[in-house]
Amino acid sequence: MRWIDSLEEAAAEKLPEPLHRYFRQGSAGGISVGEAVAAWSSYRFRPRVLTDVSTVDISTTVLGTPVDLPVLVAPTTMQRQADPDGEAAMSAGVAAANSVLGVSSNAGTTFADIGAAGAAWWLQIYVVKNREVTVRILDAAVAAGARAVVLTADTPVVGRKEDDGPTVWEVIQPGHLLANLVANDYTADDLAKADDLTPDVIGWLGERTGLPVLVKGVLRGDDAKRCVDAGAAGVIVSNHGGRQLDGSISTAQALPEVAEALAGTGAEIYVDGGIRRGEHVLAALALGARAVLVGRPALWALSVGSSTGVTRLLRELGAEFEHALRLSGCRRISDLTPDLIAR
Ligand SMILES: Cc1cc2nc3c(=O)[nH]c(=O)nc-3n(C[C@H](O)[C@H](O)[C@H](O)COP(=O)(O)O)c2cc1C
Repeated sequence: MRWIDSLEEAAAEKLPEPLHRYFRQGSAGGISVGEAVAAWSSYRFRPRVLTDVSTVDISTTVLGTPVDLPVLVAPTTMQRQADPDGEAAMSAGVAAANSVLGVSSNAGTTFADIGAAGAAWWLQIYVVKNREVTVRILDAAVAAGARAVVLTADTPVVGRKEDDGPTVWEVIQPGHLLANLVANDYTADDLAKADDLTPDVIGWLGERTGLPVLVKGVLRGDDAKRCVDAGAAGVIVSNHGGRQLDGSISTAQALPEVAEALAGTGAEIYVDGGIRRGEHVLAALALGARAVLVGRPALWALSVGSSTGVTRLLRELGAEFEHALRLSGCRRISDLTPDLIAR
């Protein structure tokens, strides 16, 4: 069996069931999470022949940071429940693969420790009802060297999970979330997600941090354009791994519309959700993404193999992508164009 495909089951042997379920699950009826991988696999390629692919290059830059491969790690929570070193181990694993790490604003490790573990990282932010609390997280991330702010825009409220059994909240150990806020310095109300956000928040985040802002959770071309017009450096096409509005279209389906809407703007487009194979990366980049992010595979790899598991995951996805690139008749990422995909 392919190692990447074995990870979810291997993680089940190590993790408490409520945590494994939390990583795996989608919201509500699980429609979007269930469709994500198949949507990427449904693309068909039109490879070129008789091109010289003796030398290929899969390196690129993401918001100006050089990376060895166009596969980044998406921001996720509960990493210290999966591995004692949590986000620090994730960071070390990402650094060894020379990729970029998305760090959840709910992280259970301090931003300083995550940065010290080596990876170039982007702060994912949930803007919460108490903007003072949001500012504390932003300032801590800037001080610890975050290179960008990823505004998660698809979460005015947290998507409903239909749990059958005890939830992860009943097993989580104290201190494994929100390590970047002073304990007892906020209330549950302070931390409720802001549900009144408009594109103005993009400018506010950029001014407060001095960092480029990506908007995560975009599934429509018109929204992508609104974000970029409001100052975003780019967007992450995402349905939050099928954990927000269930029945949202797959990111494989949404990406072409977003790429069309942002053509010529210079904005960078990223995509996540269901990307599990090098061929999925090939399709995403041909359709206009600059790089992809993986969420659950990185959590499984962390659970099973700590930092070396994360490095292996990224390297294997990179190697698969390189192989697919060669087979497509392309030598570098900039050779990938939408005509590689059959209409
Ligand atoms: C367990 C788990 C926790 C997550 N936590 C966050 C989070 O804190 N912030 C966020 O913006 N997205 C979060 N996400 C969504 C991921 O960033 C990403 O969009 C998604 O996992 C990509 O889909 P994939 O898991 O199929 O690769 C989470 C996803 C999972 C599975």
